[in-house]
Amino acid sequence: MNSTRQISLIGFLQAQNCTTIPAAWRHPQARHDVTNVDFYRHIAKVLESGLFDLGFFDDRLAMPDMYGGDHRHTVEQGIRCVKLDAVTVLTTMGMATSQLGLGATYSTTYFPPFHVARVFSTLDHMTGGRAAWNVVTSVNDNEARNMGLLEAPPHDVRYDRADEFMEIVHGHWDTWEADAIVADRASGIYAHGDKVHRLDHDGEHYRSRGPFTVPRTPQGHPVIIQAGQSGRGIEFASRWGELLFMANPNLSRATENYKAVKSAVVAAGRDPEQVKIANLTFPVVGRTLSEAEDRRAAYDLLPNLVDDLSLLSEGLNFDFSDKELDEPLSPEDVAAMTGIQGIRNQVIEATGKDNPTVRDFVTVSGRGRLAHPVVGGPNELADYFEEWFTTPACDGFVIAGTHMPGAFEDFVELVVPELQRRGLFRTEYSGNTLRDHLGLSQPQPGAWRQ
Ligand SMILES: Cc1cc2nc3c(=O)[nH]c(=O)nc-3n(C[C@H](O)[C@H](O)[C@H](O)COP(=O)(O)O)c2cc1C
Repeated sequence: MNSTRQISLIGFLQAQNCTTIPAAWRHPQARHDVTNVDFYRHIAKVLESGLFDLGFFDDRLAMPDMYGGDHRHTVEQGIRCVKLDAVTVLTTMGMATSQLGLGATYSTTYFPPFHVARVFSTLDHMTGGRAAWNVVTSVNDNEARNMGLLEAPPHDVRYDRADEFMEIVHGHWDTWEADAIVADRASGIYAHGDKVHRLDHDGEHYRSRGPFTVPRTPQGHPVIIQAGQSGRGIEFASRWGELLFMANPNLSRATENYKAVKSAVVAAGRDPEQVKIANLTFPVVGRTLSEAEDRRAAYDLLPNLVDDLSLLSEGLNFDFSDKELDEPLSPEDVAAMTGIQGIRNQVIEATGKDNPTVRDFVTVSGRGRLAHPVVGGPNELADYFEEWFTTPACDGFVIAGTHMPGAFEDFVELVVPELQRRGLFRTEYSGNTLRDHLGLSQPQPGAWRQ
């Protein structure tokens, strides 16, 4: 192993009533004070004590109420029905920590680029260079309905618009030269007029004039996270992303995709070393393998079928409520699933059917469940991480939790020391910014244009 290469760890966070798995709130050790600042400050401190690179919040701009077109089941079953504004929550976590990176998801489809540029550059200032933005184009029509549209724009159109969105955001971020502010009382000059530029963007989808109102930030600009998995999504991620999330189900697929994505980054004219890839992972940790297996078995009793169908409907932008469980879906139904294409493709591929049943979707996707956990004591978990990291199939891991905050507490107590013992993970932070943790250099102004 290259001794300088170290695993990146990312805590997958939700500012909601459960983790990504609805059953999380039913776990006997789950905390329910999720609208209380102490809950998030505690999680931030746990992640920082485990020297995580960052904690990052996912987001969706609607409850998962696509199933049956009704939110009653969503709130009754607690299926991701609480969703706080992630940046506000992150700010409080930044105040409780001094080195942990802090990322949040924001949609390019529903917010104006000037606003998003300002939110994240402000966050970068307020956290001393620890901010990251997970760029998503959003997936379903219920988000559109909350945000003033009737339906979500088509998949590739969302990415086309997102490309222009990113040009504006990066353009604004670059408009203040690093040494623009002098605040010189003697000359009466606050900032050099020729070092603050106007963007004057007038494009196909957007207009934004500037000048931008936030000076250049400690990291140059916040770290860009992206998780596109489709062809168009990977093209976008390779152009803009600095930390890419993947959800590969096994080592061979992950290894293939790792190579393919790094090649796509090179094809986009960028340095592959400056783009880190982290794979989504659900650990179930115990002091021993058998304790971890018991924990997994107990957890598997918590989810129910409504969780699965509700999250499938939401993710695929398709209402499963009027289908029988063993009814094969029609080609029209399958074509109407315009949400996360990866879920649909995974089910078609795994079953070998063009018209899978609802049960196929539930079983293969594992949505709403603890689908492909890594179960074990410290050694089994570290073996798994070591193999994926050294193959290489990824540069790091997005650690998702079974329940909060216990899943992170266990991970930090049991797995982190074993990774450190093996020389795979830092024993202290080597810098204070998120770019320092990830080994990403400061972006040069205008470099994104190439
Ligand atoms: C770890 C991970 C986290 C994600 N978080 C979000 C999120 O918070 N909000 C969202 O709308 N999409 C999220 N996505 C979905 C991606 O942005 C993307 O839409 C999805 O992976 C499908 O790829 P595609 O857009 O190229 O079809 C996430 C994906 C992964 C793998």
